Amino acid sequence: MKASWCTAVAGTNIALVKYWGKRDARLNLPAAGSLSLTLKELGTRTTVRFGAHLGGPAGEGGGRDRVRLNGQDADEKTRGRVVAFLDLIRVLAGFDTRAEVVTENTVPTAAGLASSASGFAALALAASRAAGLNLTPSELSALARRGSGSAARSIFGGFVVMSPGVLPDGSDAVASPLPEGDGWPVRLVVAVTTEGAKSIGSTAAMERTARTSPFYPAWVESVPRDLQDAAAAIAARDFDGLGRIAERNAVRMHASAMAADPPILYWNTATWAAMQTVRDLRARGIAAYFTIDAGPHVKALCLADDTEAVEKALQETPGVLRTLTTSPGRGARILQETPA
Ligand code: PMV
Repeated sequence: MKASWCTAVAGTNIALVKYWGKRDARLNLPAAGSLSLTLKELGTRTTVRFGAHLGGPAGEGGGRDRVRLNGQDADEKTRGRVVAFLDLIRVLAGFDTRAEVVTENTVPTAAGLASSASGFAALALAASRAAGLNLTPSELSALARRGSGSAARSIFGGFVVMSPGVLPDGSDAVASPLPEGDGWPVRLVVAVTTEGAKSIGSTAAMERTARTSPFYPAWVESVPRDLQDAAAAIAARDFDGLGRIAERNAVRMHASAMAADPPILYWNTATWAAMQTVRDLRARGIAAYFTIDAGPHVKALCLADDTEAVEKALQETPGVLRTLTTSPGRGARILQETPA
């Protein structure tokens, strides 16, 4: 096959109704749905090039995928996840050629800022196109899900809802956009509370929560109601309604994880302080609501006009290192590819 390549970008996303638990670990099928906002400022750009120059087909000993992340060879764990994903593409495309993957993140990797969401969304698009496949957005979402559950949502822009699906093959466990939310001037102010990687990855933490937490069944049962209420709040442009649902949902997700054995504790003292700051802002009449992912950072949802007040209050919070302000962004897209 002649070398062919594609560069794609995707924004990360932050869930307002969280995905926490799988109904099928191998296919990465979620136990319940989720709802998120795709972001403009934090994302991934990935170039995939399939070609014979990389040393022949897999299984013949010579070939090895080359994976670069932020200017360096990726560590073995990251490389393993990318190679497993490329293997899915090779099966779909019906060839066995090695690939070179070059990825740059504009989001701190694995610090609870969802680099895997934008990473696998950009990889799904770039690798499928470079392999000559022309997948629909829904097919791309199902494919991205195999890399990381949250990546299925980053195929689309703005507010996005992920269906858990019911089919055993996962073809209906895909995301779709919620266009009712388009143009709503919301912001997410991220309060960074520590540098470095999170204490336990989301897959292992979900598995432990599902296996050992007595609160897990209650968590899974609570999600459909949050999804319904959040979608209704978006359609009605009810900001306080959406914020309240996001906050209760995030705390319930963490409560289920905290009740695992051994407990999963993502929060540090600055996380608690930042949550209190958000509640104090509300007491002062500023509509801000927090959400927290599998890490210690706090993300405050607010309206664009209140961004400065929210940034300032979080920056003054003890233990908060800095803030990053993010806004709704577009779905995954191609920047450049091999001319036809
Ligand atoms: O996509 P994963 O496997 O990294 O899991 C994401 C889990 C959370 O970020 C905590 C929640 C979510 O819905 O994004």
